[in-house]
Amino acid sequence: MSGTFDVAALVGSLRRDSYTRILVKAFTRLAPPALQIEIVEIGGLSIYNYDDEASPPAAWTDFRARIKRADAVLFATPEYNRSVPAVLKNAIDVGSRPLISNAWAHKPAAVVSLSPGVMGAFGANHHLRQSLVAVGMATMAHPEAYIGGAAKLFDAAGDFMNPASAEFCVSFLIAFELWIRRLTNPLPAS
Ligand code: FNR
Repeated sequence: MSGTFDVAALVGSLRRDSYTRILVKAFTRLAPPALQIEIVEIGGLSIYNYDDEASPPAAWTDFRARIKRADAVLFATPEYNRSVPAVLKNAIDVGSRPLISNAWAHKPAAVVSLSPGVMGAFGANHHLRQSLVAVGMATMAHPEAYIGGAAKLFDAAGDFMNPASAEFCVSFLIAFELWIRRLTNPLPAS
């Protein structure tokens, strides 16, 4: 297998010391070489208002163009009140319009959710998946990734302290590479 894939990573937290961002940075080091993961910032996207489509902000058009360029999208989300933080939902809404050029359509996606608690942001993970269905993404079903205990996962350098956690993330990323390959290079019909 050859080729590399441009993976746009969206982090659903703006917090300076966000565990979710630390997780995605760890992913960039653990990922197989074929996955070129780059965090695409979403904090500068103004709240979606359809009226602004008459003259869309540059932040929106730049973001849409970046997502369209990507081969795949990795969504990393914490959980706010059992759902997706508004900043991430807003990015999905911005990318989805104008509907005729929905930036997400048909792209391979993966979801990882994280929380300091034990449930690993299960609620946010599945609310997010609901939106990804609406925008027509091909979201990897398995392995599911609910990362709990976030406050005790990483050392000062942002690496996993527990080898088993790192191994799980490596297997998740290998599965994502295979998922992207399957969708971008389908086998010829026999
Ligand atoms: C939270 N947090 C939280 N955690 C959780 O497991 N389930 C939840 O429903 C919520 N709800 C929630 C709402 C709001 C408004 C805040 C600010 C926080 C806690 C949350 O998981 C914690 O702050 C994480 O550290 C957020 O992720 P980052 O910022 O570390 O990436």
